[in-house]
Amino acid sequence: MSVVLQQSRAPAMAGDPVLVVRDLAKSFGGVRAVDGVSFSVEAGTMLALIGPNGAGKTTCFNMLNGQLRPDKGEVLLGGRPITGMKPRAVWRMGVGRTFQITATFTSMTVRENVQMALISHAGEIWSPFGRARDRHKAAADALLAQVGMVEQAERACGVLAYGDLKRVELAVALANQPKLLLMDEPTAGMAPRERIELMALTAEIAAAKGIAVLFTEHDMDVVFTHSDSVIVLDRGLLIAHGTAEEVRRDPNVRAVYLGSGATSGGH
Ligand SMILES: Nc1ncnc2c1ncn2[C@@H]1O[C@H](COP(=O)(O)OP(=O)(O)O)[C@@H](O)[C@H]1O
Ligand SMILES: [Mg+2]
Repeated sequence: MSVVLQQSRAPAMAGDPVLVVRDLAKSFGGVRAVDGVSFSVEAGTMLALIGPNGAGKTTCFNMLNGQLRPDKGEVLLGGRPITGMKPRAVWRMGVGRTFQITATFTSMTVRENVQMALISHAGEIWSPFGRARDRHKAAADALLAQVGMVEQAERACGVLAYGDLKRVELAVALANQPKLLLMDEPTAGMAPRERIELMALTAEIAAAKGIAVLFTEHDMDVVFTHSDSVIVLDRGLLIAHGTAEEVRRDPNVRAVYLGSGATSGGH
């Protein structure tokens, strides 16, 4: 592994599921958005959650990060139940999320954004004055080096190229030392090559730090290149679970998703 990383929390043992989801369900009115879904994600691995538009992917994410309370089912993080906890508590337990909202402050520099995330992780208060400016500077630069952004540490986030901003957002998420990273459409709006690069970087860091990653992605090239396994949702039901190759060959998946003639899902 080309990246040597430190982690203050004990990394999960390889093969241990970091996240276990059992029989998760959520309805909106009469719509069963997520209908009894079970899966797990192991430390250091990438699990892609795919499915057509409206399949229930985002609803699933929102139940894992505390934004939505499930109607039934259980979510375990490192063996501990987090079902129904508030987003802040879930984040404190080590569930990071990236890219759904722009996580950076545009007028602040790249380094300041990461410093602020480190300050928040440490439970400290941010102050832009005096010596506070230097707090966690070395740690921020170490994270920026991991995502290849240390040379741009002094630039304002607002002037960055889109792909670079995504890498800063990844560093911001890593500042919380997550055990699990949730990435809902992380590469939306990116050019194909940038998508592959961002997910290659994510996979490398996840493997080195033992982070479990659950991500949704419309670009099937990215899914097939950068997932250890794939689960497929269709109208709230988990219809397939396997390696990218197994899922690609699955007749049910072809019928509802890949067989539709599209190489990417809706939005
Ligand atoms: N807050 C909500 N209120 C009502 N219906 C919702 C809400 N969120 C999602 N849905 C419905 O749940 C289903 C799954 O949506 P979603 O989880 O966003 O799918 P995906 O992310 O796979 O595109 C859809 O039919 C959608 O219209
Ligand atoms: Mg969605």
